[in-house]
Amino acid sequence: MNALNGKIAIVTGGAGGIGGGQVERFVAEGAKVVIADVAEDLGTALAAKLGENAVFRHLDVRDEASWNDVVADTVSRWGGVDVLVNTAGIAGYRLIADLTVERYMNMIQINQIGVFLGIRSVIATMTERGGGSIINVSSYAGVRAGAGVAAYSSTKFAVRALTQSAAIELAPFGIRVNALLPGVIDTPPVQGWAQDRRAASIASIPLGKFGSMDQAARMAVFLASDESSYSTGADFYVDGGVAIASGREPPRAKRAKV
Ligand SMILES: NC(=O)c1ccc[n+]([C@@H]2O[C@H](COP(=O)([O-])OP(=O)(O)OC[C@H]3O[C@@H](n4cnc5c(N)ncnc54)[C@H](O)[C@@H]3O)[C@@H](O)[C@H]2O)c1
Repeated sequence: MNALNGKIAIVTGGAGGIGGGQVERFVAEGAKVVIADVAEDLGTALAAKLGENAVFRHLDVRDEASWNDVVADTVSRWGGVDVLVNTAGIAGYRLIADLTVERYMNMIQINQIGVFLGIRSVIATMTERGGGSIINVSSYAGVRAGAGVAAYSSTKFAVRALTQSAAIELAPFGIRVNALLPGVIDTPPVQGWAQDRRAASIASIPLGKFGSMDQAARMAVFLASDESSYSTGADFYVDGGVAIASGREPPRAKRAKV
């Protein structure tokens, strides 16, 4: 339970879902964690539950100035940043025929530019500390697109490209950058799916079940820790095999269905 002893981490999207699971496990593993999210109530409550090793900071990942503030605040509070987990993201389904530029751009701003700003914001402090680990949450939809996910998948492919470029650029400074590719993780939104949708999705997963938030978090712990010290620029799947399974087409190619 001390894989991350003494590490200082920022987790975007850390107020709930996969990010919330990462925050809880990171603290359990000995890290100090900044929960960086737009969800004030959830984030503050999670920080209060976890005690002095977790703190909530409001961050909209689209906003350059806020990134500078959150990183500067972390440096003055705890001395630097060792780990950045870029988990904040939004999903949503639209066939291309129904997809507006506004909707597409918002997804790019949060899922893609948010990750870029995060990477850029921590380079100086990580370099100063002699290295660090950046984990960018992509998706199984970041290796294979399907109907209704043109915008989402495009941003998740882009996250993997950003990861590869950053890994090469930052390796000389001891900063590792990897992509985490969840399959279907049983977060509150997935728990809210209709039973038939959940059943159809489970049927497409070789391991025959959704992943838990803790399973996704454990991969993030590995990537954040020194156990993964020779890994950079790579894709790490926590997906029950769904990315390689055939016939993975999601059963949701209906018009204008969110
Ligand atoms: N749940 C899954 O099955 C699954 C599968 C593959 C990939 N992912 C990816 O995992 C990540 C987390 O997904 P989740 O299912 O936990 O979603 P979620 O909606 O439960 O959590 C997302 C978090 O991001 C925060 N957020 C949204 N916009 C933000 C912004 N502009 N700035 C800062 N924070 C913001 C939300 O407040 C929320 O706390 C996303 O990047 C998603 O694409 C999820």
